[in-house]
Amino acid sequence: MTLLAIETSCDDTCAAVLGSENQVLSSIVSSQVALHELYGGIVPELASRRHCENIAWVVERALSEAQTSLAEIEAVCVTKGPGLVGSLLVGVAYAKSLAFARKITLLGINHVEGHLLSPLLTNPDLSFPFIGLVVSGGHSSLYLARDWHDYELLGRTIDDAAGEAFDKVARMLDLGFPGGPVIEKRAREGDPAAIKLPRAWLGRDSLDFSFSGLKTAVRTVLAQREQLTALFISDLAASFQEAVTDVLVRKTLIAAERYQIKNVALAGGVSCNAYLRQRLSQAAAEQGVDFFLAPPKFCTDNAAMIGLVGRRRLKAGQFDDLTLNPSSRLPL
Ligand code: KG4
Ligand code: ZN
Repeated sequence: MTLLAIETSCDDTCAAVLGSENQVLSSIVSSQVALHELYGGIVPELASRRHCENIAWVVERALSEAQTSLAEIEAVCVTKGPGLVGSLLVGVAYAKSLAFARKITLLGINHVEGHLLSPLLTNPDLSFPFIGLVVSGGHSSLYLARDWHDYELLGRTIDDAAGEAFDKVARMLDLGFPGGPVIEKRAREGDPAAIKLPRAWLGRDSLDFSFSGLKTAVRTVLAQREQLTALFISDLAASFQEAVTDVLVRKTLIAAERYQIKNVALAGGVSCNAYLRQRLSQAAAEQGVDFFLAPPKFCTDNAAMIGLVGRRRLKAGQFDDLTLNPSSRLPL
């Protein structure tokens, strides 16, 4: 029983094939970074056009790497939201066409649910309930995952997502796009205590996040500086990364303590960040909590995580039909 999964919610064209035990037989990601970095961020119209050009060969490559063919595929899962509507539309239209032409089951999947559960792809011992922190370019949310499809939103960003803050600060520092990996690299050469930056705790009980004040503080520090030396940029990158990490780690562990949960999972593009991974892992160990995360290829956008959720929906008989439409603001 093999599944094909398709993910086109933002700027990566992704397809994956999963075997009957959720083994990832292939996971192809065609990145559009080279296209969008010319503009310093994602241009939605260009993203959807590039998805149109890429989708057919990305799916073909996923099938051939998995040494299978459409004839063997039992169901097609596709991200139906949230995301850029023009981008989502390409994946959904392609999946619907496949489902219609091959008479196979169609499943529309929530992108954030894919991220939240992605640590399960490589950690079969991660059991419910767990606290899941999803930090990406579009989301920064804390969930209590009680079971499959049973999630409580404990906190979310009230302004920028964590990844968005990395991207915007990198742009201010003229470091390129996407910002996360390049800030992480520069931060390794800098002193995280060099520049004092704010942490938005938003009150004692709040599990919400806010990164726009931090972003403004970075802008102010930059404006007051006459000369931007390489060392100063590294110090600023390290101080910024420290401020983001402090808040993400503290709030995640407060959630685990408040709800008496023994498992914590980290997901989404920002969870590629080695410093965040190490800090959260260490803090979880100190609190006696088990910590789970996926390898970087399953942290950033990918279709394997969509297939993982799709498999579960297939088992539960929760199919879609050809009226499936994308929804850019789909809640989890
Ligand atoms: O999950 P993802 O691929 O796409 C969305 O659903 O948004 O996340 C992309 C985000 C970008 O903002 C990128 O800067 C950030 O993840 N990111 C990182 C790192 N690698 C990617 N942020 C911090 N450190 C990294 N190493
Ligand atoms: Zn994502």
